[in-house]
Amino acid sequence: MAAPNPIRKPSPANTADTAQDLHALESLRESASGCRECPLGFHATQTVWGEGPVRAPLMLVGEQPGDQEDRQGHPFVGPAGQLLDRALAELGWPREALYLTNAVKHFKFEMRGKRRMHKTPAQREAAACLHWLESEIEHVRPQAAIALGSTAARQLMGYAVPVMAQRGHWLEREDGLRVLITLHPSALLRLRDEDRAEGYRLWLADLKQAAKLIGRLR
Ligand code: URA
Repeated sequence: MAAPNPIRKPSPANTADTAQDLHALESLRESASGCRECPLGFHATQTVWGEGPVRAPLMLVGEQPGDQEDRQGHPFVGPAGQLLDRALAELGWPREALYLTNAVKHFKFEMRGKRRMHKTPAQREAAACLHWLESEIEHVRPQAAIALGSTAARQLMGYAVPVMAQRGHWLEREDGLRVLITLHPSALLRLRDEDRAEGYRLWLADLKQAAKLIGRLR
């Protein structure tokens, strides 16, 4: 049996529609900036909303902003983001053509001395944030998504996804959106020095599963 086409048909270019979605996303970003639906918003510096064009063919979803993202207000600008940028450059995928966002919009951390150390969001915190991610999907209308790590995979799919078993595979949501599962770039940064090159190679191979889609951008 032929492998299912992982890519949704591109939405027809309708500028009125696109402008409406852009406007809706801007209002949502504004509302999310004051979000206190879970405790994370009380401690973070700011809400980190997604970035990228409406109708981006691909949405990349991470877990939550890290320390740098929290300070700067943009997704994927810290060490994990730099690794992601390296991968995007090697793949020839222009970052500005993609929509980059997170499952959780506030940085969760605990203080260790003077350092703010990343803490995985609790399921109830992620659940409180889910509607923001779903609204981004609704208005960006990507043709496919990439879940970077288990929090993103769970949020996108609605159930716990065994990332190591499913990495490099496409899953399909009830709304038809296909989701490519892979590791979060932070997981690669945590690998032992001797394992990092191979870990990175395998991660690129996972991401390449979406290359067909990106091919249309170049
Ligand atoms: N990790 C994430 O999941 N997202 C970011 O934006 C940065 C680090």
